[in-house]
Amino acid sequence: MEVLRTVPPDRSCRAGTLDNPLRRWLAPAAREVDRLDLAPGQTVADLGTGVGFYLPEIARRIAPGGTIYAVDPDPENLEVARSRPVAGVRAVFLRGSAAQAPEIPDGSVDRVLLSLVLCCMWDKAGALDTAWRILRPGGRALVTYPRAMKIGSRRRALRVSAEQWGLLVRQHPWTQRPVDTGLILRRNLIERPRADEPVPARQP
Ligand SMILES: C[S@@+](CC[C@H](N)C(=O)[O-])C[C@H]1O[C@@H](n2cnc3c(N)ncnc32)[C@H](O)[C@@H]1O
Repeated sequence: MEVLRTVPPDRSCRAGTLDNPLRRWLAPAAREVDRLDLAPGQTVADLGTGVGFYLPEIARRIAPGGTIYAVDPDPENLEVARSRPVAGVRAVFLRGSAAQAPEIPDGSVDRVLLSLVLCCMWDKAGALDTAWRILRPGGRALVTYPRAMKIGSRRRALRVSAEQWGLLVRQHPWTQRPVDTGLILRRNLIERPRADEPVPARQP
């Protein structure tokens, strides 16, 4: 996949900040992945997978027969993600932006994870559009982002403020509800309506 960079470029993260004993202790991957409510055989897209922190837990739940799409523009992080144990599933690693991911077919995915990714990219609406496009009716996306980002002006510019989230919600025809908002993270569960349910209209 060609890496399409917006100007200014999206932000990458050092591997050590994405997987370390403190994160594993404070926010174990299993706890976040539980929120996706996975079952064997399902297909999951981890958009902005980073070093694949969640991949083994996702694989454990969707094996046998499941499929994982792991997408990230950062080749070094993606290389670490590739080394994760994902026995019993088909793992597809795609270098590129969550705002495009054309290799993932429309309506082919049961669950999408966007963990701490919107806060690292400018085209946040594009990432939500991708989630909407690839989710099958009845599918779900879990979106997480930090409540605040204090360090550095670029990070502050990338943050997902309550106002920005409100705008994104209005622009996307989803059922979006907050789940388990904590001290550090906000989480929203986005549910694509089933085929027999009406799709809420986009607001300007
Ligand atoms: C804070 S890390 C989170 C990684 C992983 N989701 C996790 O929770 O461990 C943000 C990741 O988003 C990636 N990223 C930045 N811009 C992106 C984009 N346009 N599309 C997808 N991922 C992007 C970065 O390369 C980085 O790996």
